[in-house]
Amino acid sequence: MARVVRFLAVLVVGLGLLAWGGFRIISHTTQAWFEKDLTLRAQLAVNGARWALAARWASEDAAAIRDILAEITRDERIMAAAACTADARSLAATSEYPGQFSCRELGRRVRPNAAAPPDQWRTVGFDAEITGGNVHISVVPLAGDEGVLGFVVLVHDRAFIDRREAKVQELILIAFLILAASASLITVVAARLFWKGWTREIRSFLRGGPQRREFQPILRDVRELIERISAERALEGEGGAWTPRRLVQTLTEHLHGEKVIVLANREPYIHERGPDGALRVVHPASGLVTAIEPIMRACGGVWVAHGGGSADHDTVDREGRIRVPPGEESYALRRVWLSAAEEQGYYYGFSNEGLWPLCHIADTRPLFRREDWAHYQAVNQKFADAVCRETESDDPIVLVQDYHFALAPGMIRQRLPRATIISFWHIPWPNSERFGICPWREELLQGMLGSSIIGFHTQFHCNNFLDAIDRYLEARIDREQIAVTHQRHSTRVRAYPISIEWPNRWLADLPSAEECRREVFRELNLPPQTLLGVGVDRLDYTKGVEERLGAVEQLLERHPEFHGRFTFVQLAAPSRTLIERYRQLNDNVERLAARINQRFASGSYRPLVLLRAHHEPPTVFRYYRAADVCYVSSLHDGMNLVAKEFVAAREDLRGVLVLSHFAGASRELTEALIVNPYDMEESSAALAAALRMPVEEQQERLRAMRSLVAAFNVYRWAGRMLLDAARLRSKDRLFGRLSDASGRDLAGTR
Ligand code: F6P
Repeated sequence: MARVVRFLAVLVVGLGLLAWGGFRIISHTTQAWFEKDLTLRAQLAVNGARWALAARWASEDAAAIRDILAEITRDERIMAAAACTADARSLAATSEYPGQFSCRELGRRVRPNAAAPPDQWRTVGFDAEITGGNVHISVVPLAGDEGVLGFVVLVHDRAFIDRREAKVQELILIAFLILAASASLITVVAARLFWKGWTREIRSFLRGGPQRREFQPILRDVRELIERISAERALEGEGGAWTPRRLVQTLTEHLHGEKVIVLANREPYIHERGPDGALRVVHPASGLVTAIEPIMRACGGVWVAHGGGSADHDTVDREGRIRVPPGEESYALRRVWLSAAEEQGYYYGFSNEGLWPLCHIADTRPLFRREDWAHYQAVNQKFADAVCRETESDDPIVLVQDYHFALAPGMIRQRLPRATIISFWHIPWPNSERFGICPWREELLQGMLGSSIIGFHTQFHCNNFLDAIDRYLEARIDREQIAVTHQRHSTRVRAYPISIEWPNRWLADLPSAEECRREVFRELNLPPQTLLGVGVDRLDYTKGVEERLGAVEQLLERHPEFHGRFTFVQLAAPSRTLIERYRQLNDNVERLAARINQRFASGSYRPLVLLRAHHEPPTVFRYYRAADVCYVSSLHDGMNLVAKEFVAAREDLRGVLVLSHFAGASRELTEALIVNPYDMEESSAALAAALRMPVEEQQERLRAMRSLVAAFNVYRWAGRMLLDAARLRSKDRLFGRLSDASGRDLAGTR
């Protein structure tokens, strides 16, 4: 309906413009006609009286000439008249003749130029205004037997012209309205008839009836849309909200309860031995672990990871396995051991000095060394072998995580051609030009294409990946199915925005928001009226911690009302500290924090608290709950789960999230205050706005974000991938049967 109204409005405006143009032309033309008519009338009147006038002209009989002029003005449209001699003297004039039109002045008009002799004089006419209305003046040369005697001036009443013009305008307006109404009517009727025919065709097609050729492209689009919607429905449909239970049901129903094997570099539980010899379990600061761990707790299976903890060896069986979580033991953690050289080359070198800066736009150059690449290949093979050893069938489900394992999918596929391998890339994928920096770009892409499905957080990253394939590999890209076929194997590329578990397990035993706030304020020794900001990150240059502290500094500079009242606490988990760039970052952050405190601290007030240590999840969640504002300032981030965790922690609907535009989460958490972290002015203003935000607005924003994270939780993320995998597996089985039956290999056509 809105479209019809919009269309009609455009039609009416178009017709209006057309009518306005036509109207201008018509009124111009009619006016010219009327004026010509007046000139002719004037000539006629003067010619009629010519002999009478000429006879009295020589004697300059003013009284007689005035009588003749008075006779002329008996025409109701001629108001007044005057007679002027050839040398522009006034001879006679009727009593109503307006004095402003003198013979001298009109004499100049009647001559084409100053030197023109009287036989070249021409009749002229012009419009003028006198007291009482508009008039038209005609100046007509008067010829006698011996040539031109002078000229006669006639003053016409223009009122009748104006009346006629108004009438014409009125008629044009009516014609336009009739035209507009009929055009709209005809268009609407035609559109309705067309729409009816069109929908009839679509309906008949959907019922399996005959198809007209011209409808085929559109019908194909409709069919695809229907398929997509029904797939979504099946996904969201009867199952209701995504929960651990629903995820398990999906696995049982669609994947026959197949064992899930996760391959990720980082392990979910690290066993460390403290200086006192006591054993402790550390939960690493890792978005990947935050997301995948709840899935494994729900589904069971095996998590294959690098055993990097100082007590990891002491806690596993002979195969390097241990059941986790401690005390719950719902799945197996299989630890793979790496030598110091392997860890250096594969993890620190190729993964984190090469691929990490390659994929993030954060002004750190990637470093690619041949020896690191050799380690990366060898370690990928080592992990791929470990995965294969964990399988119980020839078509297992393997979830390969992140940039540490770009080669593993191809290696697993070689040993298990029927495996369903879902790879998820947790960080951004760069544009193809940047990706081309990597000397082993083709090998990386080929390795990844061993996957059945490759997932990214956003469609944008999927597109970048496809562009890289297009540029660097001989492969067929099907942009309709969003799939790549390389060496007769097909890989789907999909966006699956990652999330967190909901409800969150760390909240179950956490005190209320007020209690958390009291505890945190006690720990930090803050007065109760303090406004508290919080940042939670691994100390990584992509997280924008320096920019964040810069924004805090500018907030205090620009808004003195926050001096003594606002404290920002940064929880910074040391990360990848063997890499020089990370050590630099560490020093920069310390320096910045010291500078801010030096500039703005007073008495016991410290505006910046830098807690540079690993913090266990319960502590992190206590800080989320205690804060008035949480600032996530990533310079480039695949998703960023800190933002979602903060939202989850605020069951009290208090607090404000300030979120970088460059974190994938900003596409979903649109009720956060979205900022460009490079723009100090904008981000410090957002912090100020957050600190001043009325409670009702905080509640409204948090309510919207919480319902989004609750619905789009990590069980849904995994569920969508598993359902897509299930669809692929049943297709594969069908193709397998077909190729068995026909004796042909149809794999390449999948
Ligand atoms: O953010 C990317 C990522 O690899 C995550 O997937 C992971 O949580 C995080 O970095 C931690 O990195 P690392 O395992 O090197 O500490």
